Amino acid sequence: MAMDGGPLSNMQTRDVEALLHPYTNAVAHRRVGPHVIERGEGVHVYDEHGNRFIEGMAGLWCAGLGFGDAELIEAAREQLGRLPYYHLFGGRSFEPAVELAEKLKDLAPAPMSKVFYQSSGSEANESQIKMAWYYNNARGKTVKKKIVSRQKGYHGVSIFSASLTGLPYNHKDFDLPVSDRVKHVGCPHHWRFAEPGESERDFAARLAAELDAFIEAEGPDTVAAFIAEPVMGAGGVIVPPEGYFEAVMPVLEKHDVLMIDDEVICGFGRTGNWFGATTLGMRPTSISVAKQLTGAYVPLSAVMINGEMAEAIEANSGKIGVFGHGFTYGGHPLGCAVAVKTLEIYERRDIVGQVRAKTPLFQELLRSFADHPLVGEARGIGLMGALELSPDKKTAAAFAEPGKVGPKLAQELLARGVILRAIGDSVAACPPMIITEDEIREMFAPMEEALDATLAWAKAEGRMG
Ligand SMILES: Cc1ncc(COP(=O)(O)O)c(C=O)c1O
Repeated sequence: MAMDGGPLSNMQTRDVEALLHPYTNAVAHRRVGPHVIERGEGVHVYDEHGNRFIEGMAGLWCAGLGFGDAELIEAAREQLGRLPYYHLFGGRSFEPAVELAEKLKDLAPAPMSKVFYQSSGSEANESQIKMAWYYNNARGKTVKKKIVSRQKGYHGVSIFSASLTGLPYNHKDFDLPVSDRVKHVGCPHHWRFAEPGESERDFAARLAAELDAFIEAEGPDTVAAFIAEPVMGAGGVIVPPEGYFEAVMPVLEKHDVLMIDDEVICGFGRTGNWFGATTLGMRPTSISVAKQLTGAYVPLSAVMINGEMAEAIEANSGKIGVFGHGFTYGGHPLGCAVAVKTLEIYERRDIVGQVRAKTPLFQELLRSFADHPLVGEARGIGLMGALELSPDKKTAAAFAEPGKVGPKLAQELLARGVILRAIGDSVAACPPMIITEDEIREMFAPMEEALDATLAWAKAEGRMG
């Protein structure tokens, strides 16, 4: 997801100056090399020079329990000692994989029957699509294969998951989308895309009507699934308008279109419920989880499918002889053991309750910057949010050259000890869920000054229009 780091910033070398193209001062701190983070403790990380930063993004929306949790480290150590590796092929399993599957089914926001493991969110969504196609073949709906996604949705970067992603820089010059089975519909961002005077509910109803018309035009017998994050994360923390899933769900159900719920960011408390589906009113037929599933200490992802899908897939595999899909490291014992411990901690420490308790302060401080002349919109839900910068907040205008002012703000914050993430000209916050109220204040403390510095720079550069 090279979104805020400049060209090639994800490719590693110490000789970065030779590798990087010349680029704008928006990411000037990287000119001297990658920013090497050495260790973490609670919600803070320390770089190789001993500088301390508050990690306001929980890494990549994932380190929900922060850094250095002794219980998670011990769970990993124990599992490595007992069974460092085994697989889940050919009917084999191991206790943490079974225990985790049962726990996930208990917690799921809709009845789920089977759990299938991978290592990453992208792989989870690849598995989702393969299972949707396999399921429809199994039930004789052999042309029901199109997958509807949304502009600005983010579902990963492997070839098909990147095709589902609705962000231009994940497609451009990668020859994506790879297939005309992928279709994108409108982004549910009220501030940017609603008609003048259109209420959130009217906007939601319009998007649902457009989806209905789209499925009708494509032919409902050709549309397999709709994939959506409850709240779009990497698209810029876009909370759908009031009534959005309430309006969308009946459209999907009418056309027998699966609802793939991508909970890779929203899952496990982030929005103030165990799953974003509960907060936003989705009725998923299958669910992708990753990231906070293990507190990000070990890579692990999972797909949960409902009983109807599981039965059809099982019967079809019986006919074929095998379910021909799975990864060597899918459901790695280390990941499963750490996930079991993570979920136990979430319950024992009432992480969902903690998120709810800290949401008002987090959202109040975030929204307190809405009046700053550089801020177009302050938005969020639970412990995630974003400030979208704009040269003209009245018209919700975008900058003439997008993706420069947001990174500048992230850089100004970094210089003041706060790591947030620039997504185009939005800056997102998604701190570890264990953050305290004092640490929330610490995270937002330099924002006003950083916004002022960014505004002064943007004016000097002639970027304010
Ligand atoms: C909603 C969502 N889905 C899928 C993914 C892809 O996960 P990964 O980077 O583990 O492949 C992400 C990553 O940020 C995500 O936010």
